[in-house]
Amino acid sequence: MEPILQVKDLHVSFKVKGGEVKAVRGMNFEIGKGETVAIVGESGSGKSVTAQTVMRLIPSPPSIIKQGEILFQGQNLLKKSNKEMETIRGKDIGMIFQDPMTSLNPTIRIGKQITEVLIKHQNMSAAEAKAQAIEMLKLVGIKNAEARFNQYPHEFSGGMRQRAMIAIALACRPALLIADEPTTALDVTIQAQIMDVMKDMQQRLGTSIILITHDLGVVAGMCDRVIVMYAGEVVETGTKWEIFKNPQHPYTKGLLRSMPRLDQKKDEPLIPIIGTPPDLIKPPLGCPFAARCDHAMKICERIDPGATVFSDTHTARCWDLHPMAKEAQSS
Ligand SMILES: Nc1ncnc2c1ncn2[C@@H]1O[C@H](COP(=O)(O)OP(=O)(O)OP(=O)(O)O)[C@@H](O)[C@H]1O
Ligand code: SF4
Ligand SMILES: [Mg+2]
Repeated sequence: MEPILQVKDLHVSFKVKGGEVKAVRGMNFEIGKGETVAIVGESGSGKSVTAQTVMRLIPSPPSIIKQGEILFQGQNLLKKSNKEMETIRGKDIGMIFQDPMTSLNPTIRIGKQITEVLIKHQNMSAAEAKAQAIEMLKLVGIKNAEARFNQYPHEFSGGMRQRAMIAIALACRPALLIADEPTTALDVTIQAQIMDVMKDMQQRLGTSIILITHDLGVVAGMCDRVIVMYAGEVVETGTKWEIFKNPQHPYTKGLLRSMPRLDQKKDEPLIPIIGTPPDLIKPPLGCPFAARCDHAMKICERIDPGATVFSDTHTARCWDLHPMAKEAQSS
C-alpha cells in the first residue's frame, strides 16, 4: 500500500529541571492511503507527543525535535515553515482531540468556523461554503443543521461539539485525520455514534486515520492495523488480528489483559500490568520493559532488542522472540 505518512527515527524530548524527558525515542511507522491505524499504549507512552509532532503542534520550548523525518505525501513536515504548516493543517491533515473546546473557538458561531476553513483553503464563495458547511453538519449527524449553523459551541452538548469538530476537521476532505482519544470524555452510546460517523466518513472520503485510543472495542471495529507504544518506542506492530489473536511482545500481551475487550466475559477481571514505565530522563540501555517483564533475561537490561519480523505486517522488539534467543539466554 502506498504510504501517505512515513515517520522515520523520530526523537522528541522535553527540557525539564534535571534533564531531558526523552518522550519519543526512535519512532518508525507508516500509514497507508485509506488505512486506519490505531496507536495504543499506557498513559505516558508518547502517543500524543507523536501525534502533536506530526501536526507540528507540539510547543517548543519545552519540546525539542531531536532528529527524524516526518514524510507526508513525500514531503518532510519538519522542514516546513509555520505558515506552510498552517495550510497543511487546515487542508491536508485534519485533527480531532479529546476536548473539542481546545479546537473550537467559543466566540465564533459553529457554522462560521466551518465556512472560514472552506473559504480559506478551498477558495469557495460565502454561499458555496455555507451550503457545504450545512452538508458537513448533516453528514456528521447533526439534526436541524440549518439552525445549528448559527449557534455557538456552548449551545452544543459534548457529543454535538465532538461532531462539529469532526465536521471542521473533515470539511476540506483531508487526506489524513489524526484523532487523539476523540471519544474518551463522552458517554458510551455517544462514543459509539461518533465512531460510526468517523467510520462512515472514512469510507466516503477515503481518509487515512491515525486513531489514538484506550478502547480495544473501537480498535476492533475501526482499525486495520495497530501500533503498540511503550516508553516512546514502537514495541509491536501488526494487523489488528495479528495483535489481538497472536500478540508476541510481553507488553502487548499485558496490555490486552489490562484493557476492556468486546469479547470479555462479565466476570473476567482486567489484570493491570504491575510496575511503572521507566524514567524517560534516564531511559534504560536495553529493553525498556525489562523491569516489569516476567521473561526478562540478562541481555534484556543491557542491549536493546532489534525488531523480529513475523510477517510483512507484524514485527515486535523482544529478545525472547529473537532468532538468537537461546544464545541470548545464556549470556
Ligand atoms: N510539556 C511537557 N513537559 C515535560 N514532559 C512532557 C510534556 N508533555 C509530555 N511530556 C512527557 O512525555 C511523555 C509522553 O507523553 P504523552 O502525552 O505523549 O503520553 P500519552 O501516551 O499520550 O499518554 P495518555 O494516554 O495519558 O494520553 C510522558 O512521559 C510525559 O510526561
Ligand atoms: S526484551 Fe526481555 S525484558 Fe524486554 S520484553 Fe522481551 S523478554 Fe521482556
Ligand atoms: Mg495522550
